[in-house]
Amino acid sequence: MSKVFVNIALSLDGYMAPEGMTMEHFSDPGHKDWGAKWGALMAWALDQQYLREKLRFGEGGETGPVNDLVRATFERSGAHIMGKRMFEGGERGWPEEAPFHTPVYVLTHERREPWVRPGGTTFYFINQGPERALALAREAAGNRDIRISGGADVIQQYLNLGVVDELEIALVPVLFGGGWRLFENLREPLPQFRIDKVLDTPAATHLRYVRQ
Ligand SMILES: NC(=O)c1ccc[n+]([C@@H]2O[C@H](COP(=O)([O-])OP(=O)(O)OC[C@H]3O[C@@H](n4cnc5c(N)ncnc54)[C@H](OP(=O)(O)O)[C@@H]3O)[C@@H](O)[C@H]2O)c1
Repeated sequence: MSKVFVNIALSLDGYMAPEGMTMEHFSDPGHKDWGAKWGALMAWALDQQYLREKLRFGEGGETGPVNDLVRATFERSGAHIMGKRMFEGGERGWPEEAPFHTPVYVLTHERREPWVRPGGTTFYFINQGPERALALAREAAGNRDIRISGGADVIQQYLNLGVVDELEIALVPVLFGGGWRLFENLREPLPQFRIDKVLDTPAATHLRYVRQ
């Protein structure tokens, strides 16, 4: 059966996004320095050849074990689920050929028709909650896996539902001091994880946990 997994970057003090990174200030990366902080969080990923190609950043990039991890993450994903705020940032930042190439289920209160992008990505806007989005994603993914892409709010909902099989975290040695925290709003019984793999590099520690 398909696995449900999370794969995100996290600041050392536990934030998925820095304070100030809102739609209102999206075109002002100097606001509370969010642009530099986000850049520091994502630098390891944007150095990887596979992602550079996907995001149309041009040639070059690293081709080592981290690049293999990034490629494996995309190749195993048969469907993605994300929150409206992550989608809104991406809608402005992703290239026309959005880097998913699968159905993407966006949890939102907004009613909107599916948005079809070239290259096999279609965004579906789901108003019936996280369980409905997961059911649709399972159906679409076939024997591939389902990635809960983010942000924090959506990941917390799936952790609370107890359906996250794997938690992959790139822990980056940068401090944000504020922003969107991943591990909060969690309810008992909390899911239990064990360490499966660790890959350490100077730019990030890649931690992989699986549900017990
Ligand atoms: N560090 C990383 O690897 C990483 C990965 C992904 C994202 N991010 C960052 O995380 C930040 C966004 O995170 P976030 O926690 O603020 O927001 P989010 O999870 O992306 O989106 C939250 C929004 O989605 C909608 N939503 C969520 N659950 C819903 C439900 N059950 N029913 C209906 N609507 C629902 C609501 O918006 P509406 O009410 O407006 O519809 C809610 O305000 C962004 O800055 C993004 O770039 C970081």
